[in-house]
Amino acid sequence: MNNKITAYKFYKHFSNTEGNQHIAGLFAIETILNLVERYSPQNILELGLGIGSVSYSVIEFSKKINLKMNYYGTEKNIFCLEELPKNLENKFNHIRLFSEAKDLPRDIKFDFIIIDGSDDSLKSIKNSVSERAIIYIEGYRISQVNLVKSFFPRNKYVSVISGYKNPNFGPFDKKKWSGGGQLIFVNPTFYQRAHYLYLKVLTSFKYKVLRKLNKFS
Ligand SMILES: C[S@@+](CC[C@H](N)C(=O)[O-])C[C@H]1O[C@@H](n2cnc3c(N)ncnc32)[C@H](O)[C@@H]1O
Repeated sequence: MNNKITAYKFYKHFSNTEGNQHIAGLFAIETILNLVERYSPQNILELGLGIGSVSYSVIEFSKKINLKMNYYGTEKNIFCLEELPKNLENKFNHIRLFSEAKDLPRDIKFDFIIIDGSDDSLKSIKNSVSERAIIYIEGYRISQVNLVKSFFPRNKYVSVISGYKNPNFGPFDKKKWSGGGQLIFVNPTFYQRAHYLYLKVLTSFKYKVLRKLNKFS
């Protein structure tokens, strides 16, 4: 499961769009695609659709791997709401769009939730996760991490980080690491626990070895 080349293509595409300063980084897109491939979620929710770099990538990638899924998302920024249909083209019809988390239908249980924006009604997702859901919080939004973890007492939580820097095109500084994110398994299975442990080791390896090796690249 290494979807970096596919993620690179999507990241490059969005690097050329208007309003690109808040798109997801290459590492975030790669991580999200890897999780989609590994867990085949049926109901995906993205809080903070922005201008669509994540949703575009996931919808396009799902076609490639023959995954049938429903994509729900929230956004209320006017600029983003105007850009989304332009950027997603025919993929826009695939998204069930809501303004905020509190507006989502109550009867849907999400298997994979991507949090990539602020949302005052975040707590309303508490009852909208499936039994074995995973939640990816982009970046280092620690207050969101703590809030989400508090909903799920049996959770396992791991930080994931990139071992490479931003590409030399796009909105982000090429001298900086291509970010990281926070992954929460709300009620992990044995398989998810093993994956969680693997990611813990991988993150430690990236901090202690890869980032030192790539420091001057
Ligand atoms: C990090 S962005 C979300 C990026 C999004 N997940 C994507 O795939 O493009 C977080 C929030 O910033 C706001 N935002 C994103 N792009 C913006 C822009 N160009 N101008 C103003 N606000 C923006 C939106 O409200 C969005 O939900």
